[in-house]
Amino acid sequence: MESERLSSTERALIRESWQKVSGNPLQHGIILFTRLFDLDPDLLPLFQYNCRQFSSPQECLSSPEFLDHIRKVMLVIDAAVTQLENLPCLEDYLCNLGKKHQAVGVKMDSFSAVGDSLLYMLEKCLGTAFSPDMREAWTRLYDAVVKAMSRGWEAHGEAE
Ligand code: HEM
Repeated sequence: MESERLSSTERALIRESWQKVSGNPLQHGIILFTRLFDLDPDLLPLFQYNCRQFSSPQECLSSPEFLDHIRKVMLVIDAAVTQLENLPCLEDYLCNLGKKHQAVGVKMDSFSAVGDSLLYMLEKCLGTAFSPDMREAWTRLYDAVVKAMSRGWEAHGEAE
């Protein structure tokens, strides 16, 4: 993750914007995933708990297990923001997280819709305060996280 090193200005923009989101991670995570299911409804069947399939995004978004997944996602982003100066320390964890997602049937391609949904959520939360520079900084951070997770696919020889 060394090559994606963020500048101190980018790190400050990310921290500033995350402060508002991190006060209520679940609420913001719900906005993110609502958007994600709008962009790619085919992701819904990947979330199954006790072999039960959800019949609608609304049903999924009200299940306790899925809300836990939202909390987990927000925690990973929070960890990346906390470790902005030291992103390589998350490398192994993220590679492993990629492997787990490959195992449950997630395709690397789907992570671009997740990135769009993340930017959408930040914009909803911050309004006009979400500047183009902030958007660019978040895009770079998210790309670094996805790149590290993508090693989990490569490890299986199925990178896309
Ligand atoms: C395409 C979007 C995604 C899909 C379809 C997906 C699906 C899943 C599924 C089915 C599980 C296992 C069940 C569960 O723990 O709820 C899981 C686990 C998890 N996901 Fe995701 N996920 C997605 C995106 C993400 C993202 C972007 C992150 C964080 C950056 C993330 C973080 C996690 C974590 C931390 C776990 C728990 C892993 C463990 O058990 O150690 N997920 N995901």
